[in-house]
Amino acid sequence: MSVSTQTFAFVSDLVRQRSAIQLGPGKEYLVESRLLPLARAKGMNGPNAVDEYVSIVHNDQAALSAVVEALTTNETSWMRDVSPFQILREHVYPDRREKNRGDLRIWSAACSTGQEPYSIAMTLLDLPDSRFSIIATDLSKQVLEKAIRGEYTQFEMNRGLPAPMLVRYFRRSGTGWVIDQRIREKVTFRQHNLLGPVPCCGPFDVVFLRNVLIYFDQATKRAILERVSHVVAPGGYLFLGAAETPYDGGPNGWQRIDVVKGSVYRWQGA
Ligand SMILES: C[S@@+](CC[C@H](N)C(=O)[O-])C[C@H]1O[C@@H](n2cnc3c(N)ncnc32)[C@H](O)[C@@H]1O
Repeated sequence: MSVSTQTFAFVSDLVRQRSAIQLGPGKEYLVESRLLPLARAKGMNGPNAVDEYVSIVHNDQAALSAVVEALTTNETSWMRDVSPFQILREHVYPDRREKNRGDLRIWSAACSTGQEPYSIAMTLLDLPDSRFSIIATDLSKQVLEKAIRGEYTQFEMNRGLPAPMLVRYFRRSGTGWVIDQRIREKVTFRQHNLLGPVPCCGPFDVVFLRNVLIYFDQATKRAILERVSHVVAPGGYLFLGAAETPYDGGPNGWQRIDVVKGSVYRWQGA
């Protein structure tokens, strides 16, 4: 069972236009598996359920947004890759603290279900007298709703959360866990598409833009990095995913910071 050529062409165009995510040839299985639950929810159970579903949602904006959201990959975990949070605590936070006497402003872009911004908040709250606020954004309303609820299953908790942080910042809720108000109030969640203008509240001392540029083509990456460079404070920091760099044609003002392993860059101006 696979989607028709027309369905695949329609969905991949839609997703590219609205999120910049590239669904190249061979991704038909992904369209089929991600959209099947939407088709089933509408009572479509036949072998061509996804084709049938897509054919009736062409002019339904809410359904089209749900299709785009279903094609995003929301993989995330607590303290993902570990070293970025160590670098934040040991180098980036003390450096920005010297330059900015007010609250440090942090943007966690493409934050998925909240593990990234909450990991930043837990890391910084563990420091004495830390002062900061985080804006966390994602394209997908569904992941943001989960992030705002701050409720996680045992399986999700097992992915990277250090035991002392579990004890300090979570309490049991049914079979899962819920995050503490002290962490929650440090993070403001907003829906935001990286293809659009940058969100309010800059300039940012630190931007996390991790594990999302990989889904975009070169021109889109370049445009996003250009926009980010306009909202990073001079000397501010950019954290990318472990295998990502800002050098593939983006603005030239990023300097890699030479501390343990990690994709961390500092904005020195173009
Ligand atoms: C793999 S997750 C990365 C989550 C987190 N940054 C991390 O590294 O663990 C990628 C996220 O990017 C979001 N995303 C994809 N396209 C986007 C766009 N155009 N604008 C904003 N967010 C987008 C997805 O919804 C998804 O939650």
